Amino acid sequence: MLNRLGRLALVVGSLTVVSSCGQDGAAASAYGADESGLTSGLGFDGRILKTDCNAMSSWYECRDIRTAPAAVQRGYEYIHHTSSTLGPDGTRKFADGTPYARSSNACSSCHFSGGQVPFGLPLMQVNDKYAAKPLFRAFNYKRDARDATLDCFRNCMGNVEVPDKYGDVIDDIMAYVGWTAAGVTDPSMTGAGWESLPGHSWPYFSGDWQSMKADVTNGGAIYEAECHACHGRDGAGQGEYRPGEPRPRYPALWGDRSFTRGAAMYSVPQLAFFTRKHMPFGDPETLSEQEALDVAGFINSQPRAVAHSARMFCDADTATGLPNSLLKPAHWNVGCVDAAEPFSFEQRLLGPWRPIALWRAAEVARRGTTAR
Ligand code: HEC
Ligand code: HEC
Repeated sequence: MLNRLGRLALVVGSLTVVSSCGQDGAAASAYGADESGLTSGLGFDGRILKTDCNAMSSWYECRDIRTAPAAVQRGYEYIHHTSSTLGPDGTRKFADGTPYARSSNACSSCHFSGGQVPFGLPLMQVNDKYAAKPLFRAFNYKRDARDATLDCFRNCMGNVEVPDKYGDVIDDIMAYVGWTAAGVTDPSMTGAGWESLPGHSWPYFSGDWQSMKADVTNGGAIYEAECHACHGRDGAGQGEYRPGEPRPRYPALWGDRSFTRGAAMYSVPQLAFFTRKHMPFGDPETLSEQEALDVAGFINSQPRAVAHSARMFCDADTATGLPNSLLKPAHWNVGCVDAAEPFSFEQRLLGPWRPIALWRAAEVARRGTTAR
């Protein structure tokens, strides 16, 4: 394993400023600070994973957030400077003093550049997606874009209580989400065409990842060599609450400040897809698929909050009466598990997932015909 720490120090120490959204033909880097207004007030060297506006110019128009309506700018503040607005260091609190967002990470620690990066959990598809697919069957409820946002407050930000679905905070976040959608200039990618938006889904591996298994010991060695310098040896990230630094410089990857067991990132394969595509910061797609899976297995073997997740997938599907624990994705080791299921916690977390998926499918077929 190549130790990249020497070179990382150079990357972090460099203060090169590039304009990310200029259409001037200059080679734009997807990493670092920019002058588009997106990074204003970041403090430190303002390093974020940026929108590559030149690469996306055939279908997305980058606009300066400072020219957007006030509600959109407020929504952007919540998403990008979460810890100093809604988070532990912010002013928006529930009556009992709990912050609107328990995690000190920013929404844009994961939804890169405020959801304007393909395969970086973009937000421009959200309204069209939930208009087209409102039923999340394994959750047993029809969700709209606001519900999906509240689910991220619960599962990504560690909340039990969530802001009012129709209150000013979610209104402003939705105004911002609508603004990202309005940047899509190719009409075939809007409305029912949302699924053709580049990078709206997870960046899956090329191989048969469901048959792979994460090696936590090797993952720990990779974390030590490739990740800990930024995210911390204890996974708690760095930079939160420093004067003039209103968001984490490097987000927390486990522990109380990080995403919970209800988050989509708690799926080892999904965390691995995302990691391989974007990390180590500034040096993406250098880990092999197996290495990315190993480091994701290591990260998701560390302690993290259960929060809302214990209640997930515990009910029966209203349409068929089948347990939702049989209908959830095999690689998402969260919430209830069917009592008859023969797999260990470790296998559900670290793989291989194909035997689990096959067992559940067979069980659904068996109970679907005999148990009702
Ligand atoms: C040079 C510093 C650096 C290194 C090294 C690095 N990261 Fe990151 N990582 C970041 C930054 C900065 C962000 C947030 C980017 C942003 O806000 O746009 C981030 C975001 C993330 C996220 C999404 C945020 C979250 O809470 O889930 C994950 C996952 C992640 N990194 C995993 C890793 C892993 C795994 C490694 C090692 C393979 C790694 N990173 C190495 C700087 C780094
Ligand atoms: C730890 C990383 C992380 C953080 C922090 C985070 N999210 Fe998410 N968010 C995700 C992931 C992963 C998904 C699932 C995407 C998928 O399955 O396609 C998601 C889904 C969403 C969706 C639905 C997107 C879709 O296409 O289905 C919305 C809206 C959303 N998040 C908003 C927010 C907001 C607002 C915040 C801050 C209050 C936030 N998220 C914080 C990782 C994160």
